[in-house]
Amino acid sequence: MQSTSVKKILTTDPSSQEVVVNGWVRSFRNDRFINLNDGSTLKNVQCVVDAENTGEDLLKQISIGAALRVKGTLVESEGSGQKVEIQVTDIFVHGTANSEEVKRTVLSPKKHSLEFLRSQAHLRIRTNTFGTIMRVRSALSFAIHQYFNQNGFNYFHAPIVTGSDAEGAGEMFRVTTLDDQNPPLTDDGKVDYKQDFFGKETNLTVSGQLEAEAYAMGLGKVYTFGPTFRAENSNTSRHLAEFWMIEPEMAFYDLPANMDLAEDFIKSVITYVLDNCMEDLEFLQKRLLDEEKQKPQAERSEMPLIEKLRFVADNSFKRVTYTEAIDILRNSKPNKKKKFKYPINEWGADLQSEHERFLVEKHFKCPVILFDYPAKIKAFYMRLNEDGKTVRAMDILFPGIGEIVGGSQREERLDVLKSKMAELNIPEEELWWYLDLRKFGTAVHSGFGLGFERLVLFATGMGNIRDVIPFPRTPQNAEF
Ligand code: 4AD
Ligand code: MG
Repeated sequence: MQSTSVKKILTTDPSSQEVVVNGWVRSFRNDRFINLNDGSTLKNVQCVVDAENTGEDLLKQISIGAALRVKGTLVESEGSGQKVEIQVTDIFVHGTANSEEVKRTVLSPKKHSLEFLRSQAHLRIRTNTFGTIMRVRSALSFAIHQYFNQNGFNYFHAPIVTGSDAEGAGEMFRVTTLDDQNPPLTDDGKVDYKQDFFGKETNLTVSGQLEAEAYAMGLGKVYTFGPTFRAENSNTSRHLAEFWMIEPEMAFYDLPANMDLAEDFIKSVITYVLDNCMEDLEFLQKRLLDEEKQKPQAERSEMPLIEKLRFVADNSFKRVTYTEAIDILRNSKPNKKKKFKYPINEWGADLQSEHERFLVEKHFKCPVILFDYPAKIKAFYMRLNEDGKTVRAMDILFPGIGEIVGGSQREERLDVLKSKMAELNIPEEELWWYLDLRKFGTAVHSGFGLGFERLVLFATGMGNIRDVIPFPRTPQNAEF
């Protein structure tokens, strides 16, 4: 007989029909009530065992963490808290879980710290919190593909191994098959990468953008959604060494069109989660409220999670130039009172996350799109403005997160791009193909990158990026 998911069972009208369900035991009370969870939903299904007709050996094998197949009749529940329950007629134990050993794991039924849960990343998915986060993560990625699919984009697979290290988005992880003890050397004693697998130095990609630009100039509108690697030694709650990025790239889009798309896209995927993940969001909201009760009043967030998501989905993002933002920051209370770690004194300063969060959380109190940044603090490929000192860059800043999107209109003029590369000592040979795009039918084009885990952080209200990716990779940490 085919098994049914717990999610389906919980919404089925009980009429004493026979059902089979597989799952893991979350609790077993009085040798009678098994709460079974299969990951399809936050909720468990209650399975009522007739102890008298169940052998003692079998009863002993039913304990927290064990995997079972339960067969029984679906009836209206007599207990409160659930509509239906299964009156068990047959149990098959897929795998037991030793009760003594369970005590040292995150499966043991008590509140565990997120740090402890991280140390058992292979088991934490069996907790309510992580089941919830990962279902929301999955729903968000579906919503992302759906959004682009419905808006005429082609899904483009950017290479993971890259031979160009010119983008400058971050430190890179080298990919090599050379013997690390005894690598071949050139005449001047350097490692000879000509003899390496690809015949040149290669790394894991920090962004699929440059390749996406090539494809946008043929397919029109493309997006990537894939893993991205940065070997920065950033031990923050917002950085991973391996994260997932969504990078749309559009021919014939200027910066305002790029901003419109980014805003519409983010609102759309947040709306999807509000429409499809309410049970999980309610759980996360309650979790957050409980957590906030421990904090001093001043640090508590002003809006409960669901209200915050609705607010973002329903209100316009504030669009502000870098120059306006610097004026606001320069005259702000924390700047005058020297509360910023990096004081803002002059135009041209790079913005730190303390500044971004001040703008979003204290000043504007809504998501902000900052644009027209100084050329000096942004990447070489961004389009230079008429003023000769700012570029058509945009960053989207989110409450509680800081930068969630980085993007720009790209420099489509060959001569301007070449002189910028010369200024930054980027050799033309390395990006000859990228320059070609400006020689053959160049056109205005734009794109951006959204850090997927930062979006999941925002949607779940979690505080640490290590808790919204299944197996986080951070400095000194690749255990699982
Ligand atoms: O601002 P970034 O570096 O932009 C780019 O890589 C461009 N090539 C994107 C483009 O225009 N196609 O990164 C984009 C976003 C950031 O705003 C942030 O959300 C996320 O990627 N991000 C990280 N997320 C987690 N861990 C890290 N180490 C991240 N670095 C960037
Ligand atoms: Mg950025």
